[in-house]
Amino acid sequence: MKYRFEIEKKDYTDFASGRVLYNAPNTTAFPVRLASEIIQRAFEIMEEQGAPGPYRIYDPCCGGGFLLTTIGFLFNVRVSELIASDVDKAVLEIAKQNLSLLTMEGLAARRQQLEEYISAYNKDSHREALASAERLANLIDNQPINVRCLQRDITDLTNYSISDVDIIITDIPYGNLVSWAGAGADSLDHLFQNCYKALNKKHSVLVIIADKQPKLRHELFQRVQYFKLGKRQIAFFKPL
Ligand SMILES: C[S@@+](CC[C@H](N)C(=O)[O-])C[C@H]1O[C@@H](n2cnc3c(N)ncnc32)[C@H](O)[C@@H]1O
Repeated sequence: MKYRFEIEKKDYTDFASGRVLYNAPNTTAFPVRLASEIIQRAFEIMEEQGAPGPYRIYDPCCGGGFLLTTIGFLFNVRVSELIASDVDKAVLEIAKQNLSLLTMEGLAARRQQLEEYISAYNKDSHREALASAERLANLIDNQPINVRCLQRDITDLTNYSISDVDIIITDIPYGNLVSWAGAGADSLDHLFQNCYKALNKKHSVLVIIADKQPKLRHELFQRVQYFKLGKRQIAFFKPL
C-alpha cells in the first residue's frame, strides 16, 4: 500500500499510548500514521458522495478509544461527534478518559495530573508527557466534539439507538490480545448487519481493519477500496 495522504512519516510521539493518552490492560493502540491515512481516505469517499462534513464517526469495537481519540485530535474541526461502543465495560472506562482529552477541561485535568507526578517523582518522562499535552491542546478547537460512550455487543442483532452515522471505522478483534465476544462464527456478519443499520444510507462509509484471516465482503455493502499493510487488511464499504 502506498500512502496517498499521510505521505511523510511524522513524529507521532505526542499520541503514544500511556503518555498523554491513557493506557490500560486489554486495550490496544493503533498506528497513528495509518489511522490518519485511513480516515482521510474515508473523508475523500464522503466528499465524493457530496458530504463535506463535519462527520459523525462511530467505532463499535472501540477498546480504549485510541483510534477515535487520535482522529479527534488530528481532524478536530472535521468531526462533529464521536461514538464509542465496546462489549467490555472496563475498556469503555479508558475510552471515556481518552475521549475526555478532546475537551479543554479533560486535557487540563490530565495536565494537572502530570504536573503532580513531576512534583512527586521528578521524572523526565512526565515532563515530556506534559509538553505533549500542551501540543495536543493546540489541536483542539473551541467548539468541542460531541462524545458518546456506550456498552454494546455489536454482534447482538436486537435494536439499538445509534443511527445516521457518517463514518464507521473499526479495528475488529484479532484473537491474540482480544477476541470476539458474542455470536461466535457469525460475529463479523452480525457486525456488518449492525453497521448497516447505524449508517446514514444516503452517504456514508464503513471501514473495517482486520488481520489477514477474515473475508471482508458482505451482501449489504459495496466494497470500494481495499489494501493490505503488514499484518493488516483494510476495507472500505458503501452501504447498498
Ligand atoms: C482490536 S480492539 C480495538 C482497539 C480500538 N480500536 C482502539 O483504538 O483502542 C478490539 C475490541 O473489540 C472488542 N470486542 C470484542 N467482541 C466484541 C463485541 N461482540 N462487541 C463489541 N466489541 C467487542 C474488545 O473488547 C476490544 O476492545
